[in-house]
Amino acid sequence: MSSYTMAHTQSVLSSHKSRTIHNSATFLIPHLRPTDHVLDIGCGPGTITAGFAEECNQGRVVGVDQAQSVIDDASTAHPHSKYPILDFQTGDVLAGLPFADGSFDVIYTSQTLIHIPDPVKAIKEAYRLLKSGGILAMREADSTAWYPRLPGLDFYARALDAMVRSSGAPGFHECRALHAWARQAGFDRSKMKLGGSVQIYASPEEREWWAQGLLGRLDPDSQGGKTMRGLTVAWPLAEGEKTAEEKVVGEDGIEIMERDLKRWIDEEDGSFAVYQVEVLCWK
Ligand SMILES: C[S@@+](CC[C@H](N)C(=O)[O-])C[C@H]1O[C@@H](n2cnc3c(N)ncnc32)[C@H](O)[C@@H]1O
Repeated sequence: MSSYTMAHTQSVLSSHKSRTIHNSATFLIPHLRPTDHVLDIGCGPGTITAGFAEECNQGRVVGVDQAQSVIDDASTAHPHSKYPILDFQTGDVLAGLPFADGSFDVIYTSQTLIHIPDPVKAIKEAYRLLKSGGILAMREADSTAWYPRLPGLDFYARALDAMVRSSGAPGFHECRALHAWARQAGFDRSKMKLGGSVQIYASPEEREWWAQGLLGRLDPDSQGGKTMRGLTVAWPLAEGEKTAEEKVVGEDGIEIMERDLKRWIDEEDGSFAVYQVEVLCWK
């Protein structure tokens, strides 16, 4: 059963489709060779995967994702006529992927381990699939910071984290452990490069786009909106309160999130920052 709590709605896909190798894999690009065989695990709509196919155009690039619908979208958007060496196929990394040991020079994964109940098992599978000397590149969001700190925004962040964790996945704030998970999966700590980057949305257009995407995820008819209602989350602190009360998210909670997302769009100084953990591991 899918552990991907967000589901591939238009709001979620709009965020995934904004990702390219130039905003999501800059830490890996200097290590790519034109002849590399590359696997993108949890490729989603494939916009990053297609970038690998352009960089490694004498090799082979495969995107796998457990969701058939998103694989269909990725294949349609990136046809063989334009990307002859690029293939998309369904696969569950926890169940094992249908490739022989040592099939790939490079394995990349972005914003996927955070949604997987057993990330160490997934990294073990990547280790198996890498050639000796090959690279695993992982990029996951760990922490976020809103300015200004409107209560509904921090509340949204806590609810989103609770939603991801409701599937048994580690959730946000655990991805700072990427290198530790890699060591547990068999990679050697001395052959890793730990890094990170911060992504910021702050212009009026970026605030509008980002907040509208988050508002869309609250839609009561979407899987995310349904999952979020009913989660127990620490509620916004009222002024002077020291301890947040844990309560179930209902329509009153959704209204607080919606109110502050809309306020934030109009905040001239409003910004949203995400700390992305970026780790390279050589086998
Ligand atoms: C947040 S999306 C990231 C998509 C893309 N990598 C990106 O950065 O935009 C996570 C993707 O991982 C996929 N996924 C989740 N669990 C998976 C698993 N066990 N095996 C393969 N794909 C999985 C989901 O279907 C989803 O498309």
